[in-house]
Amino acid sequence: LAVHLVSFFFSKLQEDPTKKVDRFLHAMRLHDDRLSDISKRFLAEMKKGLSAESTAAAAVKMLPTQVRSTPDGSEKGEFLALDLGGSNFKVLRVKVREDVGIKKGGVEMEEKTYPIPNELQAGKAAELFDHVSESLKDFLHEKNISPSNKHLLAFTFSFPCEHPSLDQGLSVSWGKNYRVRGLQGKDVVQALKEAIGRTGDMDVEVLAMVNDTVATMMTCGFDDQCCEVGLIIGTGTNVCYMEELRHIDLVEGDEGRMCVNTEWGGFGDDGALDDFITEFDRDVDAASLNPGQQTFEKMVSGMYLGELVRLVVLKMAKLGLLFDGRVSDALRTKGNITTADVAAMEENGLKNTKDILTRLHLSPSSDDCIAVQHVSTIVSFRSSNLVAAGLAAILTRIRQNRNLRGVKITVGVDGTLYKTHPQYPKRLHKVVRRLLPDCQVRFALSESGSSKGAALVAAVAQRLTSQRRR
Ligand code: GLC
Repeated sequence: LAVHLVSFFFSKLQEDPTKKVDRFLHAMRLHDDRLSDISKRFLAEMKKGLSAESTAAAAVKMLPTQVRSTPDGSEKGEFLALDLGGSNFKVLRVKVREDVGIKKGGVEMEEKTYPIPNELQAGKAAELFDHVSESLKDFLHEKNISPSNKHLLAFTFSFPCEHPSLDQGLSVSWGKNYRVRGLQGKDVVQALKEAIGRTGDMDVEVLAMVNDTVATMMTCGFDDQCCEVGLIIGTGTNVCYMEELRHIDLVEGDEGRMCVNTEWGGFGDDGALDDFITEFDRDVDAASLNPGQQTFEKMVSGMYLGELVRLVVLKMAKLGLLFDGRVSDALRTKGNITTADVAAMEENGLKNTKDILTRLHLSPSSDDCIAVQHVSTIVSFRSSNLVAAGLAAILTRIRQNRNLRGVKITVGVDGTLYKTHPQYPKRLHKVVRRLLPDCQVRFALSESGSSKGAALVAAVAQRLTSQRRR
């Protein structure tokens, strides 16, 4: 027995610490066959969301955006833009210059970030929009822009909306850090206009309101005509793409295409992903502002990844699999591991992991650091894998719509997680290409896409109006 105990002890000592993490988190490791299965389920959800009979109950809302054309590079004009709903609220001045055509640099912009106090994120809609319009006024003042001249404004609003027209958006729900009262079913543009009226002394016409995915696609589309998908992997996650109008039951007409905001964050809200959900996902959901909603988003996006890692590490420690079974109050506290921490742990050897765990009043051994780093890798890998599965479905749908075997397409991407996590983009690109070997997919980082793009939507709308007048 003694011999057995000693050999067990040594085999334990020598075990690669990543192995026990692999065993513990096997449910989060998604191989390609499982990803293809998720892709198929997402394709089915898209159909449900587009069809008139099933859309009301669909978890993936597939909202038509009224955006019928990507830029052709001949757009021009000067616009003010607002970008609300990502990790920052920004006010911008965007100049779209015709003379430089589709070339990069055809869009110039100046921007200022304004913090949104927490109480406004959970307060009354009117108060939030008063803050937005006062920030706009401050921006005009700071940039020496005369408020009494007429300004055209475009609005990126990163929450689900129904669009009777380009300059109207009926709020469906809030999400992420926001739980604002008094806007359900109401026109967000109207709420903004009323706030601008209350602030006073500004002559502003709101031309267009778009989701951040749409803005991202449009920004990228200004430089690359193959860009027909806009993807956000940031605080939240979502995707839009150009769908054939004949498939969009909720919009009249069969000719041409329209951009659809999928709101894929809600994938799984009807149970479609139940066999992929872990106890950690359930805990994140239960402690969130919107339990039962945004299932896919909670497995993927920047607002939740850090928390997933914290819950896994906490559970492993409680089971004696880490830190000799010791747990600190800091590790028990919600929000104490952020997504920025997850990105940092996957960089720079093990130093960052050790620093982060020490900050949480833990005394990690080097094996503990290796194991926790591996937890971060598995959680963030699952995120990029899930996005790859969703994206494969979107690209398959576009390919089927056009009756093509393969498709050449560019995906415009924005969002803090994609931009700041060191391995995320590479992993995502690789898996998408593996899942869809027949498609030529290019990923283009849509720099400030979510902000600039609203102005491009306004510019396209103006171009189309002036073409019609001619
Ligand atoms: C959330 C919102 C969606 C937005 C995404 C990314 O999922 O519902 O509208 O595009 O976050 O910001």
